[in-house]
Amino acid sequence: MKFFNSLLIIALLGLPLSTKELTTAETLPLGDANAGSNLVAQCAACHGAAGASINSDWPNLVGQGQQYLFSQLKYFQGGERENALMMAVVPYLKNLSDQQLLDIAAFYNSQPTSVGQAKDDQALLARGEWLYRSGDLNKGIPACTACHGLSGMGLEQAGFPAISGQQVSYLQTTLKNYRSKSRNTGEYASVMQTVAVNLTDADIEAVANYMHGLYSQ
Ligand code: HEC
Ligand code: HEC
Repeated sequence: MKFFNSLLIIALLGLPLSTKELTTAETLPLGDANAGSNLVAQCAACHGAAGASINSDWPNLVGQGQQYLFSQLKYFQGGERENALMMAVVPYLKNLSDQQLLDIAAFYNSQPTSVGQAKDDQALLARGEWLYRSGDLNKGIPACTACHGLSGMGLEQAGFPAISGQQVSYLQTTLKNYRSKSRNTGEYASVMQTVAVNLTDADIEAVANYMHGLYSQ
C-alpha cells in the first residue's frame, strides 16, 4: 500500500522516480463513528454539529475521508499544524488517544455531505472547471481530478481528501498556505505545495469557487 501510494503520487505529478520518496500513513484500523459522536461537543461551535460549518472561513469536515481527518487531527494534537481558532481545542486533543481521534474522524466521515453554491459567474466558473479538470500544462499545474476525483470525492484509501462542497474562503486560504509553504505538515503537504506553487490568486479564486459547487450526482 505504502509503495503503491508513493508510485501513484509520483506518476500523477509526473515526477522523475529519483524524487524524494513519499510515504503515507500505514493502513489504519477503522474508527467507531458512534464513539466519535460523544467526543465532538466542543467542535460544533465552528464545524457544526455534524461537521458542516456555517462560516466560509471554517472547513467542513464531513466526508473528507477517515485517514485524511485522522492525519490532520494528529498534526493539530502535536502542534505541527497551527491555527489561532483550533488552538482552543488543542489541549483537549492532547488528552485523546489515537483510537479516539480515529473515532472522531470516523464520525465526521460518516455524516451526510453538505451542499454549497458556486458563484454564478460564467467566466470564473469556466476557468475553475478548466483548471480543476485539466490543470494548466504550460504553467506546470496538474489536474486536480487526478487525486481529488472528477466530483471531488478524493481517494479515501490513499488519504487524499474530498474537497467537494468545501467552504470557499477556507479553500482559498489553505491553497495560499500551501503556495507559501506555511502549510507544511507531513509529506502530503509537500505534494500540494508542488501543485500550488504556480497558481495565481485569480486561479485560486476560480478553482475554489468551482470546488465549492462540485458534487457527485
Ligand atoms: C473556534 C473554532 C473552532 C473550533 C472550536 C474547532 N475548530 Fe477545527 N478548525 C477551525 C479552523 C478555522 C480550521 C482551519 C485551520 C487552518 O486553516 O489551518 C479548522 C480545521 C480543522 C481540521 C482540518 C480540516 C481540513 O480540512 O484540513 C480538523 C480535522 C478539525 N478542525 C477538527 C476539529 C475538532 C475535532 C474540533 C473539536 C475538538 C475542532 N476542530 C474545533 C476552527 C475550529
Ligand atoms: C498528486 C495528487 C494531488 C493533486 C494532483 C492535487 N492534490 Fe490537492 N491534495 C492532495 C493531498 C495528498 C492532500 C492532503 C495534503 C495534506 O495532508 O496537507 C491534498 C489537499 C488539498 C487541499 C486541502 C484540503 C483540506 O481540507 O484542507 C486542497 C484545497 C486541495 N488539495 C486542492 C487541490 C487543487 C485545487 C488541485 C489542482 C490544482 C489539487 N489539489 C491537486 C493530493 C493532490
